[in-house]
Amino acid sequence: MRDRFPEARRRDRIAGGDPENGGRPARATEVPGVAVRPGYSVSRIIKGGWQLSGDHGAVDADRAIFDMVRFVDAGVIAFDCADIYAGVEEMIGRFRAVLARTRGRDALDRVKVHTKYVPDRDSLAGLTLRDVEASIDRSLMRLGLDRLDLVQFHWWDYAVSGYVDAAAHLGALRDKGKIDLIGVTNFDAERLAELCGAIDVATAQVQYSLLDRRASEDFAALAKGKQVSLFAYGVLAGGFLSDVWLGRPDPGFDFDNRSLVKYRLIIEEFGGWALFQDLLATLRAVADRNGSDVSAVALRVTLDSPDVAATIVGSRYANRLRRILRAFEIELGSGDRREIEAVRRRSTGPRGPVYGLEREVEGRHGRIMKYNLNNGDDRLARVARQGEVA
Ligand SMILES: NC(=O)c1ccc[n+]([C@@H]2O[C@H](COP(=O)([O-])OP(=O)(O)OC[C@H]3O[C@@H](n4cnc5c(N)ncnc54)[C@H](OP(=O)(O)O)[C@@H]3O)[C@@H](O)[C@H]2O)c1
Repeated sequence: MRDRFPEARRRDRIAGGDPENGGRPARATEVPGVAVRPGYSVSRIIKGGWQLSGDHGAVDADRAIFDMVRFVDAGVIAFDCADIYAGVEEMIGRFRAVLARTRGRDALDRVKVHTKYVPDRDSLAGLTLRDVEASIDRSLMRLGLDRLDLVQFHWWDYAVSGYVDAAAHLGALRDKGKIDLIGVTNFDAERLAELCGAIDVATAQVQYSLLDRRASEDFAALAKGKQVSLFAYGVLAGGFLSDVWLGRPDPGFDFDNRSLVKYRLIIEEFGGWALFQDLLATLRAVADRNGSDVSAVALRVTLDSPDVAATIVGSRYANRLRRILRAFEIELGSGDRREIEAVRRRSTGPRGPVYGLEREVEGRHGRIMKYNLNNGDDRLARVARQGEVA
């Protein structure tokens, strides 16, 4: 009989299951784990936090917090957030308290919280150790932690020097016991190499999906050589890589949900709406053969990439959980992969370094960014909104 959980059997396991089954973990689907550093493992699915910060539709905070416990019950033990995701570090702090109360100290100790240090664009010049420490202390307080598990460092503008110094400040705070691991997000290969020369970089969070492979090849090879684990976001392209969009006419670029704007622009770089529909139709055919759905196949393809240690999936609540876990219940055959690659080979982009398009402040990807969220100052984005998004 065919092994339905080949990957789960290959990798070390993280206990979990479906709590909807009698209120106890039923261990229906095992979520595999991956070691980032000795003694530091995460589930290969990390629950994203951006979708809880507003900008993606209304959020019922109590429901979102309760549902985080359900993700843990299912074996998803890592949570991604950021100092700039408004209110999300606090929500995760509340979730940790609920988890300890309802599932016990052992469950809490297994959970990893990955936040980000994203200094405002306007504050980059002249950041001091004190500035960095104040931000880290604020995250510690919001999350109710004595030490941050992983801090992923972002820098808006390479033209402003200081990112190596800021990373070194994070290193000093790790030495002081306030941080366990340091990672980076959205740096390109050149800067990743520079940062690896200054500190121990454990992880790199980048966009990596069926639509966006800018982080493959050079970036991925460098990361592998430096023992930097790659965490992929954009895996479902904000929900575009799902059955919801199959056969739908081009919606244009005007969405209230900011991540749909972001990924609609990526679809344009990929080759446009018609090619995207070809990709969805191919994923649907593969899903039919696997008794699955488009989002599970999209997730499976990225999880199968040797470049990728773990994928970060955004979903506000646990209603998506069953579908997300389906990715671990399917195995793609060589024919499936060939068909998907045939569509991918027709794509025209996105091209260039990791996060290169997004760094062009006046470009259509850069214009939708919010650059000074820690200060509540959205000046650049306001300027940008005066122009067209696409
Ligand atoms: N470092 C960075 O610059 C950066 C950038 C983007 C994201 N991230 C991180 O990555 C996480 C994931 O964000 P993402 O941008 O990569 O989004 P994503 O995971 O590609 O997509 C998430 C969106 O897809 C929807 N969705 C999930 N499963 C679905 C399904 N089966 N069918 C239809 N829709 C589905 C969710 O809707 P619901 O909300 O309704 O569940 C959510 O709005 C973020 O939360 C954040 O932690 C980091």
